This record gives sequence, C-alpha cells and structure tokens, in this order.
Amino acid sequence: MDNKKISSKEGENKIDSIAIIMDGNGRWAKKRGKSRTEGHRAGAKAALEAVKLLQKYDIHHITLYAFSTENWKRPKDEVDGLMSLIHEYIDGVMIPALKEKKDFSIKFIGDKSALSKELRDKCIEAESISENTPYVCNIALNYGGRSEIVNAANSAIRDGYTELDEQILSSYMYTSHSPDPDVIIRTGGDFRISNFLLWQSAYSELIILDTLWPDFGEDDVKKCISEYKSRRRRFGGLDPEESESE
Ligand code: FPP
Repeated sequence: MDNKKISSKEGENKIDSIAIIMDGNGRWAKKRGKSRTEGHRAGAKAALEAVKLLQKYDIHHITLYAFSTENWKRPKDEVDGLMSLIHEYIDGVMIPALKEKKDFSIKFIGDKSALSKELRDKCIEAESISENTPYVCNIALNYGGRSEIVNAANSAIRDGYTELDEQILSSYMYTSHSPDPDVIIRTGGDFRISNFLLWQSAYSELIILDTLWPDFGEDDVKKCISEYKSRRRRFGGLDPEESESE
C-alpha cells in the first residue's frame, strides 16, 4: 500500500473517527445475478480497501458494522456464509496485516459469546497482536446498540455503582478506547441507523450514499470528507459568529 498520507489543512474540520454501515451487498449481487454470499465477499474486499483508504486520508478510528444482533434472523445459509467469510478474512488477511504493520490494531465490538469458539478465538488472537496504535479498526460483530447500553449499565452495577453519569457509562461501552464517530456513513441509500452506535452517535454527522457497499471507493471517501468539511458542528450550541452578534 502507498503509505503517503493526505492530511487536512490547518483550521479545517478534521475527521478523527468514522463509522460505516456497509449496506447494499445483496442488491449489488442481485444486479449481477450472483448469490448474496458473493455480494458479502465483494463487501469484505471493499471493507479492506476502505480501511486502507481511510488510513491514507489520516482517519485514525474506523468502525465497521459487519454483523448485527438482528442479522441472525437471515437465512441460515447467508449467516453461515458471512461467518465463514469473516473467519477467513481475520485469519488470512487481518492477522498477517497486523503482524506486518505495527501502526494499527483491531478490536471486535459486540457480544462475542454467541460466536462459534473458532471465530471467537480468532477475534481474540487478532486483538492481541497490537494495542495502543495510532490507527484503530473496530469491527462490530454480533453488535447491537441497545444491548450495548444494557450490558454497559449491568456491568457498572456489578462493579458496585448505584448511580451512573455519562462519563461512567461511556467507559463501559465496547468503544471506550475510541472517540465517538465524527461521521457515520451509510451506503445503499437508506436513511436509518439500524441499532448502530446509538450511544456514540449523539452528535455524529450522518452521510447517506446511494453507492452499494461493494462499489465504495476513493471517490466516495473524498465526497464524504468534503461533505463533512461543509457541515457546521454546533453540538447543541451556536456558531461562534452567532454567539458574538448577541
Ligand atoms: C448489509 O448488506 C451488509 C451486511 C449485513 C454484512 C456486511 C458485512 C461485510 C461487508 C463483510 C465484512 C467483513 C469483514 C471482514 C469486515 P445487505 O445484505 O443488507 O444488502 P441489501 O440491503 O442490498 O440486501
């Protein structure tokens, strides 16, 4: 991979953390007369390219929605296909890349207990290769935003808290090692959050692309960065100029 980084200019809104709902694999496959599993395979390739691209554009935290707690409702063939694809990518692509490159790490966010022992062990192996790196890729696997919040509250209660505040609850989230996403991108054109990062998305900028996930590429990354730079993030306050004119 070309290691040249493209950084933002000083004073520009810079994306530090990005999250992606990778939707549209099924429609991409259907258009080509292929199976949904082939669509997911093309999606996994696009995910790998996206991680490289986001590093090229110096975005330090990436969170990809690979499998939700609701995706178990899909036909068994599709679920099995996705699970073996994810296993294959961790083993054949991610682990070798993590061993070679020392500047990024992988974390799986979600409930690992429902995964097969083989997949769970692979996730743990990949996570243990590197830590505290400048680039972090979070992969949401058997992830649900509501269950994350419930689990976080229960863990805090087990640790003896009788009252919680936002900071305490945040520290119990799967993503406590990464900043909240500046941007959430959804490909495939639907305007939904689909139980993704419900806690962390409070002030994320949402960008919906019509691109089907396997077609996601550098033009889409550039489009998202440029769209983000045009947004005025106020976090519930006012723009500085508006405050001054009062
Ligand atoms: C949604 O498309 C996509 C998923 C449920 C799976 C996403 C998973 C991958 C891209 C593989 C990730 C792998 C790694 C290793 C990170 P859909 O099937 O709902 O598409 P549709 O809306 O067109 O039917």
